[in-house]
Amino acid sequence: MPSLDVQLLRGRFPALARETSGRATAFLDGPGGTQAPDSVIAAVGGYLGRGNSNLGGAFDTSREADEVEAAARNAVADLIGSDPHEVVFGQNMTSLTFSMSRALAREWGPGDGVVVTSLDHDANVSPWRMAAADRGARVEVVGIDPDDTTLDLAALERALSGRPRLVAVTAASNAVGTVTPLADIVAMAHAAGALVYVDAVHHSAHRLTDVHALGADFLAASAYKFFGPHTGLLYGKAEHLERLTAYKVRPAPEKGPGKWETGTQSFESLAGVTAAVDYLASLGKGSDRRARLGDAFSRIREHEEGLSLRFLRGLSELPAVRVFGITSPHRLDERVATFAIAVGEVAPREVAARLGSEGVLVWDGHYYAVAVMEALGVLDRGGLVRIGFVHYNTESEVDRTLDLLEQITG
Ligand SMILES: Cc1ncc(COP(=O)(O)O)c(C=O)c1O
Repeated sequence: MPSLDVQLLRGRFPALARETSGRATAFLDGPGGTQAPDSVIAAVGGYLGRGNSNLGGAFDTSREADEVEAAARNAVADLIGSDPHEVVFGQNMTSLTFSMSRALAREWGPGDGVVVTSLDHDANVSPWRMAAADRGARVEVVGIDPDDTTLDLAALERALSGRPRLVAVTAASNAVGTVTPLADIVAMAHAAGALVYVDAVHHSAHRLTDVHALGADFLAASAYKFFGPHTGLLYGKAEHLERLTAYKVRPAPEKGPGKWETGTQSFESLAGVTAAVDYLASLGKGSDRRARLGDAFSRIREHEEGLSLRFLRGLSELPAVRVFGITSPHRLDERVATFAIAVGEVAPREVAARLGSEGVLVWDGHYYAVAVMEALGVLDRGGLVRIGFVHYNTESEVDRTLDLLEQITG
């Protein structure tokens, strides 16, 4: 299979040329936000430079804003496998989820249930908890197997026997990297009469989604996690977007995605969203953008799995480092290249600070994946260190990180 030309594509990311104390900076915090390629940066600036406007006016720059928005809906539809009119934009995933939770909860009442999971980022937990509390509905939490941080599907089955209204589940954990068996979960939830709200924020940098094939009811993502600017996006099945009542101002559209888009969107970001999808598609080959995205993500996956293997092998030689999550080289299809580790008794903040001072940027703490950290019993020790690789990261960055970890555990 043709692979990625990582050195070539790195040249398109100005931030990757940044140095820390004379050494190249290693951006290993893709899970917190990825870097942007030149075309995304140009698209954002280009929109503002050509003339900023609002939608629906009778003049050129307004028509251009309409076009920018339509192009972004088409691009996201190609990225997630939906129709463009099922794509809603908003400030970020968290805001979109709070907004949709409020709309969905109008259909709930006392005695109804909602299921969330311990793998979820809190942005896919708290909105449902608060909406359920408003309606007197109950919330059940499906846990994980702490040994490999996979979802407890037997517990999900039990939770579904109470016929909940909704299952909120992540496609991939932003903490431990576990990929959930979404097709199975959607089938199980639908058989029990529940809707499924998927958080694809972390998943979207690593794997391609086909939301129609998946059959999920909602799927949320955020462009700054897939090499774009800070804008959130939400897929909703057309029938739900039409049926549900949106909290909106009266002049806003009554139909279509515009019904869900409160206020004015960031059109410069939408221009960047299209450029981010086009950038990803440019990494693959195919007759149309969706096909190129499919090919690109196969290459991305192959490269990232190589980095995961190298990192896991290196870590296995550092007995003081404990990896929380899947470590088997034979199970890389069940995880992305995001690793949560404990480095002996050294506080996560100190590990991150030491790596940071050497130009290796990693996060520490709980990264809002509070439930995972609780389930793993590491909240009180300051969480874990998170090291995340995306397609622009390299083997030499993996090796440099391993060397530094060895020095810290020294
Ligand atoms: C898995 C996951 N879900 C949701 C979010 C929240 O996304 P946003 O910042 O767009 O609200 C994040 C952000 O870190 C995340 O990693």
